Amino acid sequence: MNEADTEIIRSILAKANYSFVSMEEEADIIMLNTCAIRENAHRKVYGRVHEIHHKHNELNKLKKPNERNTPLIGILGCMATNLRSELLENRGLKIDFIAGPDSYKRLPELIRQASETGEKQFDVTLSEFETYSDVYPTRTKGVNAWIAVMRGCNNFCTFCVVPYTRGRERSRSVDNIIEEVKRLADSDYKQVTLLGQNVNSYRHENDDFADLIEAVSKVNGIERIRFTSPHPKDFPEKLLKVITQNPKACKHIHLPLQAGSNRILDLMNRTYTQEEYLKLVEKIRTLIPNVALTTDIIVGFPTETEEEFQETINVMQQVQFDSAFIFKYSQRKGTIASHKYSDDISDESKTERIMQLNELQKAISFKRNHAHVGQVMDVLVEEEQTKHSKQDFQGRTDGNKLVIFPAAGKTGEFVPIKITSATPHALKGHIVN
Ligand code: 5AD
Ligand code: SF4
Repeated sequence: MNEADTEIIRSILAKANYSFVSMEEEADIIMLNTCAIRENAHRKVYGRVHEIHHKHNELNKLKKPNERNTPLIGILGCMATNLRSELLENRGLKIDFIAGPDSYKRLPELIRQASETGEKQFDVTLSEFETYSDVYPTRTKGVNAWIAVMRGCNNFCTFCVVPYTRGRERSRSVDNIIEEVKRLADSDYKQVTLLGQNVNSYRHENDDFADLIEAVSKVNGIERIRFTSPHPKDFPEKLLKVITQNPKACKHIHLPLQAGSNRILDLMNRTYTQEEYLKLVEKIRTLIPNVALTTDIIVGFPTETEEEFQETINVMQQVQFDSAFIFKYSQRKGTIASHKYSDDISDESKTERIMQLNELQKAISFKRNHAHVGQVMDVLVEEEQTKHSKQDFQGRTDGNKLVIFPAAGKTGEFVPIKITSATPHALKGHIVN
C-alpha cells in the first residue's frame, strides 16, 4: 500500500512541477513514506533521518559556503498520523513537514510553506472520502501494477494501528478503476494487484469485490489479477466462485490467520475462531484444489501462553501454508491492545516462538514447493536477470511462486517452465518448447 501511495505522491508532485533525482545527494527535498505497523519500521525512519542529516553535513563540509545545501525532510504516511506530536516536538529529529495518508494533495503547499517560513508544517487530517481516484499514479515500468481499490479499515483488530492511521473504509468506483486498468493495459502491464486493507469490504454502490474482479478481467491485455488482503471473517462464496472460474484470477489467497488459539483470536478481535478459519480453508481447497495459501501470524500477543502458541503451530501444520509472514507482537500507540493489555511476553519468548514457526514454515514451504517438481508451469517473466545471476531470469507462477530459470522469453511474456528443483523460497527449472 505504501508503494502504491508513493506512486500517487509522485504524480501529485510532478503535476506541481517537481522533478525527481536519482541521487539522494542532489535532492532539495527528501520524503520518507513511512509505515507504523510495527516498531522496527519506526526505528528505521528515525535512523534514516539522522543518516540523511549526517551525510549532508559531511558533504557540506567539502563545499563552499554558497554551495551548501540542506534538504527539506518530510515524513509521510502512517507514522505521520500516529506520531504527530512526537515528530513535531522531538527537537533532536530535524524534519520540516509531515503529511498523513489522506493529505498528499496538500504536499506542494506544505513544502512551499515549510521552505518559506522555516517552520514545521503538518497535515494529518483523515478523510472519509479521499481515494485519490482522480490521480493516475506514476509507476516505474514493470509487469505488475498496484491499484489501491479501497482505503482505510473498520475492523479494529486490537493490535493494529491501521484504523487510526488510515481512517475509515472507502472504495473507488468500478468504472474509475477500470479506466485505470485500461490505461495500464495500454502501457503493457500484464498483471494488476488490487489492494485494500480488507478487500472483502470493497463496495461501491451495488458492486462488491467479486464484481470488481470480473470487470477487471474483461480488460484485454491484463492477464493476471491478484489481490491482497481479504479478512477470513467475511470471505464470500461469490468471490471464491470468481477465483475458481475466472482464468485471469490468480489461484493464490493470502489469508491472515494471526493466531491459532480462540482466546487470543478473541482478544485480537479477529471475530473468527480456529474452527471457522479451518473450515474456510477446507472450503477454499475443495473449490480450488491447486490454490496457494499464504498467511500472516503474530507471536507473543499479550498473555499468549505456551499452550496457546502451540495452537498456532497446530493450525500451521494442518493448513500447510505455502508461505507465511511471521511477526513478533509489537505494541502500537493508540491501539485497543495497548490500552487494555501490557506487552507481557518477553522479547526472548517472542524470539523463541518466531524461530520455531520460521523453522516449521520453512519445512512446509519446501514440501509445498517440492510438489511442483516435474510439472510444467506458466511463468510470467518479471526480471531478465536475478539478484544472483545475469544469466538467470525470474518470474512467477499463478500461485505467486518465484521461479528461476536460464534466460527464456522477455519481461512481460508467459513462458512454460518445467520445474526441476525447489527450495523453501523458490522453484527452479527451464523452458520447454
Ligand atoms: N504487531 C505485530 N504484527 C502486526 N501486524 C499488524 N499489527 C501488528 C502489531 N502490532 C501484522 C499482522 C498483519 C500484518 C500486515 O502485520 O499480521 O496482518
Ligand atoms: Fe489492521 Fe485488522 Fe484492519 Fe488488517 S483487518 S488493517 S489487521 S485492523
